[in-house]
Amino acid sequence: MSAPLKRALGVCYYPEHWPEDMWAKDAARMVSAGITWVRIGEFAWSRMEPEPGRFTFEWLDRAIDVLASAGLKIVLGTPTCTPPRWMLDRFPDMLAVDALGRARKFGSRRHYCFSHAGYRNASAAIADVLGRRYGQDPRIHAWQLDNEYGCHDTVLSYSEAARLAFQDWLATRYGTIDALNTAWGNVFWSMEYESFAQVDLPNLTVTEPNPSHALAFRRFSSDQVVACHMAQVDALRAHTDAPLIHNYMGRVLDFDHFEVGRSIEIASWDSYPIGFLSDRLEATPAHKSRYLQQGDPDMQAFHHDLYRAVGKDGRWWVMEQQPGPVNWAPHNPAPLPGMVRLWTWEAFAHGAEVVSYFRWRQAPFAQEQMHSGLLRPDDAAAPGLAEAEAVATEISAMPEVSVQQAQVALIFDYPSEWAWATLPQGAGFTYFGLMLDAYRALRKRGLSVDILPSTTSDLSGYRLVLVPGLATLPDSLRHALGQTTALVGPRSNCVTEELTIPTPMGPGLPGLDVTVTRVESLPPGAHRTVPGIGVMQHWVETLEGSAQVTLQDADGAALVVSSGALSYLGGWPDAALWDHLIADAAARCGIETRQMPEGLRCRETKTHRFYFNYGDAPCEFDGLTLPAAGVAWVAI
Ligand code: GAL
Repeated sequence: MSAPLKRALGVCYYPEHWPEDMWAKDAARMVSAGITWVRIGEFAWSRMEPEPGRFTFEWLDRAIDVLASAGLKIVLGTPTCTPPRWMLDRFPDMLAVDALGRARKFGSRRHYCFSHAGYRNASAAIADVLGRRYGQDPRIHAWQLDNEYGCHDTVLSYSEAARLAFQDWLATRYGTIDALNTAWGNVFWSMEYESFAQVDLPNLTVTEPNPSHALAFRRFSSDQVVACHMAQVDALRAHTDAPLIHNYMGRVLDFDHFEVGRSIEIASWDSYPIGFLSDRLEATPAHKSRYLQQGDPDMQAFHHDLYRAVGKDGRWWVMEQQPGPVNWAPHNPAPLPGMVRLWTWEAFAHGAEVVSYFRWRQAPFAQEQMHSGLLRPDDAAAPGLAEAEAVATEISAMPEVSVQQAQVALIFDYPSEWAWATLPQGAGFTYFGLMLDAYRALRKRGLSVDILPSTTSDLSGYRLVLVPGLATLPDSLRHALGQTTALVGPRSNCVTEELTIPTPMGPGLPGLDVTVTRVESLPPGAHRTVPGIGVMQHWVETLEGSAQVTLQDADGAALVVSSGALSYLGGWPDAALWDHLIADAAARCGIETRQMPEGLRCRETKTHRFYFNYGDAPCEFDGLTLPAAGVAWVAI
C-alpha cells in the first residue's frame, strides 16, 4: 500500500488549441477553482516537431511557464499516440492493419502498429528529446507516456511488421517448430509447419484459426505493447526522476496492464461512467435506463480497484473524469446533478491521489466538439465546474488518502480474458462480464474489495478470495489459496497456457476431489435452477468426484463442491445466486455483510466509510439520508 497522500484535483488542457492570450486567464481560473494539476502535451506532436528533426518547443516553454507560474503542477505527455502526417511519408507501412487486412489510416489518432520498428524508434526519440529538454525541469511533476494504449482496438495488428515479429517471438517461445506443432496440436487438420517462417498471423483463415495460434498471437501482441512502452520508459528514465504514468482506459483488456505497470510509478485511467454504461456494458434495458445519467454503480469502482493493483505500490489516479455529456457513446445524456462530485469522491475513496477532469474547455472544432468540458466553448462555466469546485473545497478539509487492505480479494488476469475471447464456447461468455458480476455481488453486500493479479503468491490478511474464470492457475496462487477461504470457478484452471485441455482435467485444486467432466453454455432465458435461491445462467459445468456437494440444482446436480475453506463453483450465477454464495462464504469466514439498497454502494478507507447513491431517488441507510447522486462519509 502506498504512503498516505493528499487528494488533489487536476484538469486536461490543450494550450495548442487556444490563442496564447487565453492561457494566463485559464491558468488563474483553474487555480481559483481549486485545481492543482494540469496535464498537457499528449496530442501535440505536430506542434512540437512540425518537420522531421525540426523542433518548435518555444510555445510549450511559454505554456509551461504560464501554467507553472499560476501555481499548477504539470504532467507532461509524450505525444506518441498522434504521430504527425510526415511520419507516414517516412514509414508508409507503420499503420496498424485490421483483421480484414485493411490499413487503419491517418486522420484520427493511434494510427500506428506496435510492432513497427521505425515508429517505435521515433517514439523513443521524441521521448528522449522531451526528456532532455524538460526532464530536470522542476515544474514538470510527472510524465504521461503515450495515451490509452490499445484504445480504438489497436493492440491486435495484422501488419507485415507484426507477422515478422510474431515469427521471431514464436521462435523464442518454442525453440523448435516441432515444439510449436506439438504445443498447438497442429496435427489436427494438417496444420503442421516446417519452419517459423511459414507461420502467418491468425486472420483471414477459412474458418476459425487454431485457438492456440490465436492465443499466442494475443500474448505476442500484448508483449509488443510492453516493448514499445519500454522504449519510451528507457528514453525518459535517462533524464528524469519524476514519476512516470500511463493513462489506461475502461474495459480495454487486449494487453496485460500489470506488465506495463511494472516499469512505471503510477497507473491512471479514464473514467467515463455514462459513456461506459451506454457503450461498454452488457446490461438489461431496465438497468441501462435506471442508471442512464449516473453510470453503472460498480463499473468505476471496479476499475479504481483494478488500477490500484496495476500502479506500483498502489499509486493511481483518474487522469480523465467525465465532466458532462461525452460525444462517443451511442447516446450521450448529461450526468444527474451531483454525479460529477460523486464520481470524484468515489475515486478518492478507492485511493486515487488525483482526479483530473477531461477537459478544461470544450473544443469548438474537430472530432470531440460535442464533448463537454468544465467550460463551454464560449468560455462560460459548464455545470461540471461548480461540482469540481465543491469537491475542491471539501478535500481541503479531509485527511490524506489512506487505503487499507480489504478483507476480500478478486483475482484478475488479462490472459484469461484473451483465452475466453478466443474460445468463448457460448455467445455472452466474457471474462470481464463474469468478473464484474462477481465484483458487483461483493459490493451489493457492502464489501470493499482488492483486485489482485494472478501472479499473487501471498494472500495473508485476506479472509475471502474469489477466482472466477482464471484460465490457468499458477502454482504460486494455488499454494496461496490455502491461506484463506476461497471460491474458485467457474471455468477456472481448465486449460493449459497453450489453450489446450490438460489431463487430468481441471480444476486440479489441492485437497478438493472434483473434476469438471463437461461444460454447457446456455442461451439467454435458459438456466439451471437452485430452488428458492436463484439460477445458473450462460454457463454450467458437470462436476464429478468425492468432494462434498454444498449446492445443487433442482435435479440434484452438483453446482458447488467444497472441502474445508476451499470451494469450486461450477456455473455462472445470476445476481440472486451470487448474493447467496457471497453471504454464505462471508459468514463462514467471519466477515459481516449486509444487503445494500439498490444503487447504494459503500467503501471503507482507514479513517472513513463512504456512501455513494447511484440512484435517482433519495436513499436511507445507516441513519443517513442520501439525496439522488448523493455522497456521504462518516469517520470510523
Ligand atoms: C479518452 C481520451 C481523450 C478523449 C476522451 C473523450 O479516451 O484519452 O483524449 O478522447 O476519451 O471522452
